[in-house]
Amino acid sequence: MRPAIRAAVTDDLPALVALDSLSFGSQAWSTVAWTDEFDRLAEDRVILVADEGSVVGYVVLLVPSVALDVVEVLRIAVTPAERGTGIGGQLMTAALARCAGRTVLLEVAASNESAVGLYRGFGFEQISRRRGYYGGGEDAVIMRWREEQ
Ligand SMILES: CC(C)(COP(=O)(O)OP(=O)(O)OC[C@H]1O[C@@H](n2cnc3c(N)ncnc32)[C@H](O)[C@@H]1OP(=O)(O)O)[C@@H](O)C(=O)NCCC(=O)NCCS
Repeated sequence: MRPAIRAAVTDDLPALVALDSLSFGSQAWSTVAWTDEFDRLAEDRVILVADEGSVVGYVVLLVPSVALDVVEVLRIAVTPAERGTGIGGQLMTAALARCAGRTVLLEVAASNESAVGLYRGFGFEQISRRRGYYGGGEDAVIMRWREEQ
């Protein structure tokens, strides 16, 4: 069964905190940080979840409401047991559908092959590299997507 992609609601908060922790470990957002993301929904955040009866993935976008034509993908993750089954792609499709006419930027660890593969598959291109950005010799790659004209 393919999950439904829908906007996050406050009741999703515990599931998002848990999945974020599983996905990002020490870099996970705290409950306070996630609550702050929800508080910003009316302002400049879009949070989409993949729902299979439970939350199995999410994507968080920063969509400035004024002036800027640039959207940022802040976070995307899929529950470990269901990675590689297309859910990340479903989330990214839904996210980019909301980005018509805008440029989309994101930052990713250079060694994160699954994420870089996902982004490249959607036409994201590397526009810069920050050497040693994450420490431990890990570079950050900045990628950009533009809707084809
Ligand atoms: C990155 C992530 C969200 C991808 O989600 P996913 O559901 O596994 O991705 P999908 O199954 O939809 O795959 C979509 C595409 O991504 C790429 N991809 C997925 N897994 C990959 C892997 N292990 N290696 C290389 N490319 C991969 C492929 O291009 C794939 O397309 P294909 O299936 O046609 O080959 C998931 O691996 C994840 O949650 N990782 C941990 C969190 C994270 O690192 N997030 C990104 C940093 S913010």
